Amino acid sequence: MYNKLLACVNSVKEKVDFQPEVGMILGSGLGDYANDIEIVDTIEYTDIEGFPISTVKGHAGRFVFGYVGKIPVVIMQGRVHFYEGYQMSDVVLPTRLMGMLGVKKLILTNAAGGSNENYKPGNFMMITDHITTGIPSPLIGPNLEELGPRFPDMSEVYSKRLQEVIRNSAKACNIELQEGVYVQFSGPNYETPAEIRLAQRWGGDAVGMSTACEAMAARHMGIEVCGISCITNMAAGISKVELDHKEVQETADRVSNDFKKLITNIVEN
Ligand code: 6GU
Repeated sequence: MYNKLLACVNSVKEKVDFQPEVGMILGSGLGDYANDIEIVDTIEYTDIEGFPISTVKGHAGRFVFGYVGKIPVVIMQGRVHFYEGYQMSDVVLPTRLMGMLGVKKLILTNAAGGSNENYKPGNFMMITDHITTGIPSPLIGPNLEELGPRFPDMSEVYSKRLQEVIRNSAKACNIELQEGVYVQFSGPNYETPAEIRLAQRWGGDAVGMSTACEAMAARHMGIEVCGISCITNMAAGISKVELDHKEVQETADRVSNDFKKLITNIVEN
């Protein structure tokens, strides 16, 4: 696994000479953000040998290197999910790759369903913590000692310092911000109403199919992590309508201007 990771890192370094400080993964429908930054270079995932390629519509696949203000960033426009059939070690390979490029801070974003009944579609939720269910830890397998310890601490996955930055950015941009716990299910099916009641009793405020595994892999490496969910729809049993990916895309589109403002402000601060 480590050799595969190294091969991908070397393949990127051969093609791109850029030192990012902040990494970012853009969720479903939020990928457009990367088109608006000051782009210095891009690399298609298909041009990185051994790199996992997303099969989902609306998940373009490339790294975008450039500047948000004065800050050098690398953005993943599209990610792979466990439900596509990849091993967890492949799902988090891109996260680890960004860490090996020198990224010190990581901003994770996603489209998520609201399980907190006070939320509304279109809300942003700052992730304060997470729960996983139905997925294996991405750290299962021989420990990659080069990356981090066998038994990494997870008592502050989402940096309190970065949470304060996000709060201040939301205020500065006049954008309403929810705060809550993200529950990662495996997908690809949406949850049943009973599963959503379970998530609620566990203290889960939003449900999704990504992010927590990436956050764990990043923390393993000592990267400072933060996360923002775009609540694109209410979860099963709360929503009055059947869930489908079109609604996810449409809501993400609708709030994309606020999303861009918020993320830019966060990176600059
Ligand atoms: Cl309701 N569930 C999950 N797992 N992911 C989602 C979602 C729901 N809505 C958007 N993404």
